[in-house]
Order: sequence, then structure tokens, then C-alpha cells
Amino acid sequence: MSARIPPQVGRRFVVTGANSGVGLETARALVGAGAHVVLACRSPDRGERAAADLTGPGEAEVRALDVSDLSSVRAFAAEVGAVDVLVNNAGVMGVPFSHSPDGVELHFATNHLGHFALTNLLLDRLTDRVVVVSSIAHRRAELDVDDLDWSRRGYAAFAAYAQSKLANLLFLAELQRRLTAAGSTLRATGAHPGSTATGITGHTGRGWATAVGGWGHGLVGMSPAEGALSTLYAATMDVPGNTYVGPGKLREMRGRPTAVGRSRAALDPDLAKKLWCRSEELSGTSFGCGPVSPP
Ligand SMILES: NC(=O)c1ccc[n+]([C@@H]2O[C@H](COP(=O)([O-])OP(=O)(O)OC[C@H]3O[C@@H](n4cnc5c(N)ncnc54)[C@H](OP(=O)(O)O)[C@@H]3O)[C@@H](O)[C@H]2O)c1
Repeated sequence: MSARIPPQVGRRFVVTGANSGVGLETARALVGAGAHVVLACRSPDRGERAAADLTGPGEAEVRALDVSDLSSVRAFAAEVGAVDVLVNNAGVMGVPFSHSPDGVELHFATNHLGHFALTNLLLDRLTDRVVVVSSIAHRRAELDVDDLDWSRRGYAAFAAYAQSKLANLLFLAELQRRLTAAGSTLRATGAHPGSTATGITGHTGRGWATAVGGWGHGLVGMSPAEGALSTLYAATMDVPGNTYVGPGKLREMRGRPTAVGRSRAALDPDLAKKLWCRSEELSGTSFGCGPVSPP
């Protein structure tokens, strides 16, 4: 399987967490199709090493972004300039309990809240779309907006990851509802890479969990280039807003990208609104609607 995407000459993308895995391969395919891609990375050194490995006709540019830190998100958004497509890819999985610099549990802060803030801060500058990267794990999630710090439930690393990935899909649906209601020409789409062999399983702090995760991805996982195909589809093809794309085979773990379903919880409009309000409070950002169609 390889990426067959339309030419992207003259388009500017931001890909968060683009120095490795699915993000790097997303950036590689976009640069190969002629796009200007901003690799938004928490380590500029790792970003520069990744950028050096990308070949044109497009270009890659590295900018510092720690998406778990709202001050870094604000600084990035203030400097990045015009953007056509924002790809919210960066993520952590199964990490031990810790807080972001803003005091928010790290999965929620990195995988959802920082991207929520980044999207709101860039929305008035985007011309095309926002792509949200979720996971099959969202299907096993419960989101408790009143217990984001896990004090009532007791912290479980995988449940915290799954919760953040459910938050991604609730955000996708609510963002598209708001864009549509505002008459915006922007769209929000979603993607997941099924099972893809990347470094995401390597930060659990528990040897057995890291080994099991790596073994599972080694057994059924796609290559990062294959895993990036769903994101590329959601980022470049003419699909309706709120489309969610994932691999079509083996219970969405492998295969070519296709539109996929989501859990009942991910379709709950009340939960999506509640998450939106809490995310606005926590991030200090709010909805801007981008370009609006003439009446
Ligand atoms: N691999 C899978 O099977 C799978 C399945 C479902 C969903 N996903 C999703 O796919 C996305 C990409 O993951 P991957 O599998 O490609 O894993 P990966 O290779 O570990 O890539 C994750 C990227 O996110 C970056 N990142 C983490 N925290 C960050 C922060 N605070 N600020 C900025 N960047 C940060 C990492 O940067 P560093 O190098 O600095 O750590 C890395 O570049 C994630 O959203 C993940 O949830 C993956």
C-alpha cells in the first residue's frame, strides 16, 4: 500500500508530533505531493532530523510545539502564520500518571486539550480543514468530564488513553456542528491508524506493558507509512465534514482507508457539549469559525 494523494502544491499543513511514526509519514507523503509542511515538534532537534529525511517537491519547516503546555500552544499559534490544514496527530499512550505544566492529566492534556486550544487559536486562519487523530481504543472508553484527574475512579493508564481518544471524536463531532451552524466553509474530519508499529507503546514505564504493546503491533501492525494513509485520506480527499476514516480490514486494525463508524458514546451530543465547555474553561480558548460562505 502506498499513498496516492492529489497534488498539494501551494498548500500549507501543520502536523503535530511529526518527528516520528504516523506523523512523520504523513508529513513525508505531503511534502512528496508538493505541500509546505510545518513539523510541529516538542524537540526541535528531533524535528530537524526528521525534516532532513523528507524530500520534495514540497518543503518541510520545523517549529517548536509542546502540545501538552498551553503556553507553548499559544506561542506556536501566534507565530505559525497562514495554514490550510491542521493535522492534530501528536499523542502519548499508556504513560504513568502525571500532570501537564497546566496541571491537567497528561493524556487528556496532550491528546485532547492542547489540540483543542490549538484548533481554536488557528481556526480563523485555516482555509480548509482540521484533522483529528483518534483510535480504536475510543470504543472501550468512558469519559467523565467531572473526574479528569482520576481521583474518583483511580488512575488506569490505558483507560486514560482511551478516554482522551473518545474526547478526540466528541471534539470532531462538536467542532463540525459548530462550523456548520456558523455557516463556515471549513470542515473537521477524523482518522485513526488501526494498529501501526510505532514508538507509541514505548513510554508506559512498565516493561511488560511496553513489551506486550510492541509485540501486538509487531504481530498485526502496519508500517508507519501504511498507518498514515487514513490521516492522509482525511486530510486531502473531498469527504464531508465529520467523516471518520480508518483501515478497512481486520476489525479496523489493518487495510486501506475507508469511512468507519464510532462508538455510541462518541455520537452523544450532550457529552460533546459538556466536553467542549470544560475544555474552553481549562484552555481559556473558544470557538472561532473561520471563513463563512456568502449568504
Ligand atoms: N500506532 C498506533 O497503532 C496508533 C493507534 C491508534 C491511534 N494512534 C494515534 O496516532 C498518533 C500518532 O502516534 P504514533 O503511533 O505515530 O506514535 P509515535 O511514533 O510515538 O508518535 C507520537 C508523536 O507525538 C509526539 N508528541 C508526544 N507528546 C507531545 C507533546 N507534548 N508535544 C508535541 N508532540 C508530542 C511525539 O514526539 P516525541 O518524539 O518528542 O515523543 C511523536 O512525534 C497518536 O495520536 C496516537 O494516539 C496510533
